[in-house]
Amino acid sequence: MEKKSNTSSTGMLGWIDERFPLSSFIKNHLTGYYAPKNFNFWYLFGALALFVFVIQILTGIFLTMHYKPSAAEAFASVEYIMRDVSFGWLIRYMHSTGSSLFFVVIYLHMFKGLMYGSYRKPRELLWLFGVFIFLLLMAEAFFGYLLPWGQMSYWGAQVIVNLFTSVPFIGPDLAEWVRGDYLVSDATLNRFFAFHVIALPLALAGLIFGHLIALHEVGSNNPDGIEIKDMKDKKTGIPLDGIPFHPYYTIKDLVGLSVFLIVFVSIIFFAPEMGGYFLEANNFVPANPLVTPDHIAPVWYFTPFYSILRAVPPLFNSQFPGVAAMGLSVLIFFFVPWLDKSKVNSIRYKGPLYKKWLSTFVISFIVLGYLGTVPSNVWGQFYIAIPIIGGSDVATIVARIFTATYFLFFILMPIYSRKDITKPVPKRVRM
Ligand code: HEM
Repeated sequence: MEKKSNTSSTGMLGWIDERFPLSSFIKNHLTGYYAPKNFNFWYLFGALALFVFVIQILTGIFLTMHYKPSAAEAFASVEYIMRDVSFGWLIRYMHSTGSSLFFVVIYLHMFKGLMYGSYRKPRELLWLFGVFIFLLLMAEAFFGYLLPWGQMSYWGAQVIVNLFTSVPFIGPDLAEWVRGDYLVSDATLNRFFAFHVIALPLALAGLIFGHLIALHEVGSNNPDGIEIKDMKDKKTGIPLDGIPFHPYYTIKDLVGLSVFLIVFVSIIFFAPEMGGYFLEANNFVPANPLVTPDHIAPVWYFTPFYSILRAVPPLFNSQFPGVAAMGLSVLIFFFVPWLDKSKVNSIRYKGPLYKKWLSTFVISFIVLGYLGTVPSNVWGQFYIAIPIIGGSDVATIVARIFTATYFLFFILMPIYSRKDITKPVPKRVRM
């Protein structure tokens, strides 16, 4: 017996619908997905992150067509892409600029979550998916940075992989296992390439899918932190404060996307290196295992975490405390849904304590980010002698203070979020 379509579509769409739930997918996730009507500027960044992810995959495919993952040929193959491949320079700059802007977008997206309490019940799993995405994104960027096989690629990877040696007992073996050799070499480049072009993009795509499924299961939060599903029209069952995602937010996101594209192409065409922040000068020098660059610093998006690593002093000559602190500074995001004990979701109704701590956290993140870009020898001359505990240069002292405030934002959250004087939350969203 012929299968009846569950939609009224005819023609081509009807034919597809009888074999694949296309119309119901569009209805469930776009035209019939009701999003809060009060989304603001901050709600753009999820869609932008998705867009940049697609750009990275597409430009990555074209780069892979010409790139050679071998220590002998990698650097030259990137130069070949830049100079000889038609529009190779454009594809490469799109990819390198895309990676930096990916982090800009993700940091703003995470900040939105912290502002509006989007990690709180029932969105904990959505947030956890996000933190996993963030971790993998960092790994993806780290692996990708080795591929041009420039001096910074090489020595950056050397420094970071060497951090594993500080893990108690298994450290040196672990570092060797990660490298696949006694030092960063062809074997390391090959495995980083495999992770960068297939393993991590695949895992990221899966996690992004999970993130969006979780989002559509519980529904979006909004700047008021009000559950729009609690106030539905009695007849239609549609949330009173909801509007269909398509066409309202698809159009709104297109406006934001246009602005983003203006920024994106301006950087690509006028400042692709961004003063050394997006592409470092030392990475235009081929990797040389015998010459260590004067100043090894990661790309800007890693510098807050790198600062934390440098700020924590060694214990019994082991760097492990710094490494552990750096790891913890990222992993701590996993716990946020259970650290926030506030009665309300959004910063609009939270009290002054949360506002002060969130501001302190953002300032700490920016200062640590800045300090991570500055060579340690620049600051060495500003030395302060402190009785009993010894002295330190100013940058280290500042980094230690801001490392402490970075962690205190999370550690004290159960206390200040409970104590904070919140405002009454309205029943319906404000426009
Ligand atoms: C490739 C990376 C990511 C993509 C493509 C992505 C995509 C999206 C999209 C499209 C939305 C809905 C629109 C919006 O609220 O802006 C969203 C919401 C959300 N995302 Fe992400 N996201 C990514 C990474 C992250 C990360 C790293 C976190 C947190 C650690 C996160 C946490 C959240 C939360 C909590 C929401 C719900 C926001 C709300 O309803 O208020 N996402 N994401």
